[in-house]
Amino acid sequence: MSGRVIVVGLGPGDPNQITPQVAHAINQATDVIGYFPYVARINPKKSVKLHPSGNRVEIERAEHALALAHEGSKVLIVSSGDPGIFAMAAALFEALEKNLSRWQNIDIEILPGITAMIAAAARVGAPLGHDFCAINLSDNLKPWSIIDKRIRMALAADFVIAFYNPRSKSRPKGFEKTLTLLQSHCEPERPVIFARALSTNKEKLQIVPIRKVTAEMADMRTVVIFGSSQTRIVKQNEREWAYTPRFYPDKDIH
Ligand SMILES: C[S@@+](CC[C@H](N)C(=O)[O-])C[C@H]1O[C@@H](n2cnc3c(N)ncnc32)[C@H](O)[C@@H]1O
Repeated sequence: MSGRVIVVGLGPGDPNQITPQVAHAINQATDVIGYFPYVARINPKKSVKLHPSGNRVEIERAEHALALAHEGSKVLIVSSGDPGIFAMAAALFEALEKNLSRWQNIDIEILPGITAMIAAAARVGAPLGHDFCAINLSDNLKPWSIIDKRIRMALAADFVIAFYNPRSKSRPKGFEKTLTLLQSHCEPERPVIFARALSTNKEKLQIVPIRKVTAEMADMRTVVIFGSSQTRIVKQNEREWAYTPRFYPDKDIH
């Protein structure tokens, strides 16, 4: 008897930002697996078995979900934001590929959620209105040299850059190095958006020119959006908006 694994994104925090499709999947599950703060965010039926776990055990979590589904359970794996962005959907496919013949009969579904950069962009205006990219600053699963290269290339291409996992207690230096790169590349007034704990009661939003940015402005609950050369600030009464126009000037950027 084989069951299902559904990987869902819970959005950035506010239950109103959970899609109806994900809410429906939560109601159908027999088991819920995930990093414990994400499991704590849902309110499933009493009969549902919860399997919260710690950070950095993504593959074990995915294997656990597949094993439960193999026995017939309807397993929900919960991620914050979108499950396909620096989250559990990719871990599930890694686990699947590792032991493909064993998991042939399991139904898999990935249900999207609102990722942090989209939620942040909406709160401050439209900074992702033109071309952008996302870079995960954690070097737990990749060497710093590739992060450094990607930042340099994104700067050269004048992308807006959304930085996930900017800074943690165990990785205090990466964001400092990133800031040095950004500050050496662009004009001092370039806007940088710090969006912390979006759509929760601890939400904090700041739009700061790069010359005033310090590493302490970011932590693990922050997504940072670095503007392109075209990102602008508009002041409307008391409100400050950031946006990147859809058009690009007809000239070379260097
Ligand atoms: C492991 S990644 C997971 C990303 C998640 N899957 C998503 O799509 O938003 C964790 C990082 O996402 C960002 N993040 C997640 N939720 C956030 C929120 N509510 N407010 C601000 N940033 C958030 C932060 O950069 C955090 O370090």
